[in-house]
Order: sequence, then C-alpha cells, then structure tokens
Amino acid sequence: MLIKRFENNLPENSSVVFLLSCEDCEKNSELCFCDEVREIISRKDFTGKKGSLVKIPVFAKNNIRNIYLVGLGKRCDVKLNLVRDSLAWVFRTAGRDQNFALQVMLGDLHFDDLPVALSEAAELCAYEFDRYKSKNADHKDFALKEIYVDRDFSEPEISKGRIFAQAQIFSRKIANEPGCVINPESLSLKAAELAKECGLECEIWDSDRLRAEKMGALLAVGSGSQTPPRLIHLSYKPANPVKKIAFVGKGITFDSGGLDIKPENYMTTMKGDKTGACNVLGIMKGVRELGLNIEVHGFLAAAENMPSGSAFRPDDIVTARNGKTIEINNTDAEGRLVLSDALCVASELKPDVIIDMATLTGACAVALGNWRAGLFANDDELAREFLAASERSGESFWRMPHEDEHIAESLKSPFADLTNCGKRYGGAIFAAIFLSNFVGEKISWAHLDIAGTDFYEKEFGIYSKGASAFGVRTCLEYLSRI
Ligand code: BES
Ligand code: MN
Ligand code: ZN
Repeated sequence: MLIKRFENNLPENSSVVFLLSCEDCEKNSELCFCDEVREIISRKDFTGKKGSLVKIPVFAKNNIRNIYLVGLGKRCDVKLNLVRDSLAWVFRTAGRDQNFALQVMLGDLHFDDLPVALSEAAELCAYEFDRYKSKNADHKDFALKEIYVDRDFSEPEISKGRIFAQAQIFSRKIANEPGCVINPESLSLKAAELAKECGLECEIWDSDRLRAEKMGALLAVGSGSQTPPRLIHLSYKPANPVKKIAFVGKGITFDSGGLDIKPENYMTTMKGDKTGACNVLGIMKGVRELGLNIEVHGFLAAAENMPSGSAFRPDDIVTARNGKTIEINNTDAEGRLVLSDALCVASELKPDVIIDMATLTGACAVALGNWRAGLFANDDELAREFLAASERSGESFWRMPHEDEHIAESLKSPFADLTNCGKRYGGAIFAAIFLSNFVGEKISWAHLDIAGTDFYEKEFGIYSKGASAFGVRTCLEYLSRI
C-alpha cells in the first residue's frame, strides 16, 4: 500500500476518512469539517461512539465519492491498538467499496507509533483467505491501493509497519492452508523457499536424520502419518550480533488427537495447530527484512498427529533428545512432545534467549479467552520486555505461573522420567513445566501459549477470518527493541 502525505488532489475513486472521538463530535463547530460531516454530527446521526462507522455519499466533488466517519469513543480511553483496529476496519470497508485511495484525517491524534500502526493496518486490511472461493461474475477485487495522511510520516516507520504486517500475513497464509495442502514435507518446502528468496540459511532434517539425532518424541508424534515429520531450522547471522535468540514453533500440520482421537467438534480448525511454526517463519522473514543486528534462529517442529496402525500409543515410552524418557498418557498432548526435542536442539546453540510458541492447550484458552495469549517465562526481565513489546503491538499477553510444586509433582510417571499429560486443572501450567525440562540451563526462556488466539471465526480490526498469526508482531517488536 502506498502511504503519502496529502498534497492537493486525490486520484479518481477516492474517499475521505475522519477518525473522531465523542469529544470531537461535541465540539464539531470548532473543527473544520466539511458541511456534510457537520450536518450528520449536528443531527446526532454520528456521535463518535466506539465501534461506529458511517458512510456519507458525496456528489463527486474533487474525485471524492464518500466520507467515512469512524468513532473512537471517549478520547481519554483511546489507545493505539483501537486506532490500528479502527483504521484496518475502515480501510477494509473502503477497499471493498471500490475506493482506490483514501485521505485519512487523523486530527489531533498523537501516538509515538501511529505511523507504524497505520502502515500495519494498511497492509493487514487487504489480506483475506479466499483463494479457494470461486469468483462469480459480480465479484470485485479489493480496490484500495493508496492512502494519504494529513501529516508527515517518516519512511522508516512506514516501512517498519509494512515489514511487521507482511511477516504476519506470511504466517497467516500458510496457517490457513488445510492439512491436505500443508504437511510436514510441504511446510519444509515453504521454509526452504522463503530462505532462498530472502537469504537465510536453512537446514531440514528428515526422518532418517531425526532418528540419527535421537529425536524420539518428534518421531513418535509423526509416526501415524503418511507424511513423516521434519525439523526445520532457519538462521539469520549478521556479522557482529549483539545477542543470539532462538524461536521454536509447534508445527502440527493437523491435530486429529492421534489414537486418543478428538471428538468431531474439537477437530475442526486443527489445521491451525501449525500456527506456532508458521509464526516462526514470519518472524524470520521480518528479522531479515529489518536487518537486525541479532543472530536469530528459527526452529519448526513439524509433524502430523494421526491415528493409524503405525501411530504412537498411549502407554508408549519415548526418549527425547536429551535422554529424558516420557510415558505417553494421551496422544492428544502431542505439541509438548514435538517441542521438547526442538527445545533441546535450540538449547544446544546456547542462545541468550529462547522463545517458543504453540497452540498448546485448550486450558490456556479457557483461562484467558480468545483475545489474550499466555506468557510463561523463567526470567522476569524477559517477561517485562516481552509485555512492553506486546503493549506496543496490541497483541495482548498475560503472564502465567511457570512454576508450581504440586503441578510439577503430577509430571512424575511411575515408569519413566515424565508423563506427557496430567489432570485437567492447570493444564496450561502443566504443559509449560513439561517444556521447561528441555530448556538448557541458564537460558532465558519464554513460552507463548497461543491456543485461544490463533484462529478467529469472524473478521474484526486487523484480523481477517481464519488464522491470526497472533504473536508475530510482538516478537518482532521485542527484537527491534534489543
Ligand atoms: N492443539 C491442541 C490444543 C488446542 C485446543 C489448540 C484448542 C487450539 C484450540 C493440543 O494438542 C491438545 O490437543 N491439547 C489437549 C491437551 C490435553 C490432552 C492434555 C487439550 O487442550 O485438550
Ligand atoms: Mn492435541
Ligand atoms: Zn495440538
């Protein structure tokens, strides 16, 4: 999307957007709104209420077709995230209304990251997972291509927003693909393609290599599928990095539950169980485009969790890469298994920080709902920095306990070092403590449980229907501030 300061004339098929708070509407006479807007406001047809959007047709003055009024609610409650979501909403609406360009009146809104947020909204509004829908005769493509603003925005900020948003879209595109398209092998091809296009190192371990490398947990999860598992490793290595950070993503390309098969209404959307891995790909793309001075590694633990004659079973005992044995209580608790081996490999690089992300537990979604993800961290400073980044990105995280002696007790198995599944209560904490067994000593580690936030049924704000790629922008923000 082209973003520029408004100069004099708008191109054909343009509209004007006003972002207005309730206070703006109350004192409308002081603001130099045009007659159409003043009329609507004085009739109280638009009061600036949060979540309101009004379209006023204009009789083709200076190429202007419509005026859109977007309500922000009470001025003192307006946060940058609301502005980002409101912008994305009006951009999406206007693009579908066949507007080619928009002039956005930001009035006296001021936030440090407003240019970044506007640029993110401009990119994210245009993405929709519609490639499998036949286009009928009256289908019209999304038309919005240019956005003009009423002030100077710096190019680096616009470009930061674009990179962040495109990283998130990259992840969404893959995460939205069904299990018949994306399996561990095709996911590894996508990763290799990305690495080639943007200049990242890429190493892929197939099942023979995984066996040689003693990745017993990842192999077990993948054993029921026609498509064997993969460990995918992308790396970005600048000359004199200030830090080394590894990301690890859960890449279950479809989670049927395995032999502990899921009931039907729990199995749909499980193509989205690879979101953590897709996010890691998006982050690696973003890191490369930002040219950050940090060595960044991305690991994707890819497997398909299927029931079959060759599937792993409840009661099986598997050995992870670090030698710890795991008794399988439930084949549906597979994410922590694939992550355990990948966390071992990541730890061997001795990074300063490991951040893993996974659609790991329904329990986390039950605890926090669909709009806030779980953050577990063994380092308070890392947690603080991550939460500060999430404040900026607008993706909200809530810190959860990463230690609990009673829950830790329930990880014990009578016959192996660990069991993969405990009681229902505290399920997200159980999973986090399980993972901590595979993180190397003295490594700052954060675990993001994005099970509740990975998929949206309805579009809203910057989110389209389907995969959200929640967390990509927060991780990039966290890295940009190091
Ligand atoms: N992929 C699921 C978690 C999930 C649930 C993600 C809902 C997104 C939405 C995970 O593999 C799983 O099945 N978890 C089980 C764990 C249980 C067997 C301990 C769960 O949450 O029920
Ligand atoms: Mn599962
Ligand atoms: Zn899963």
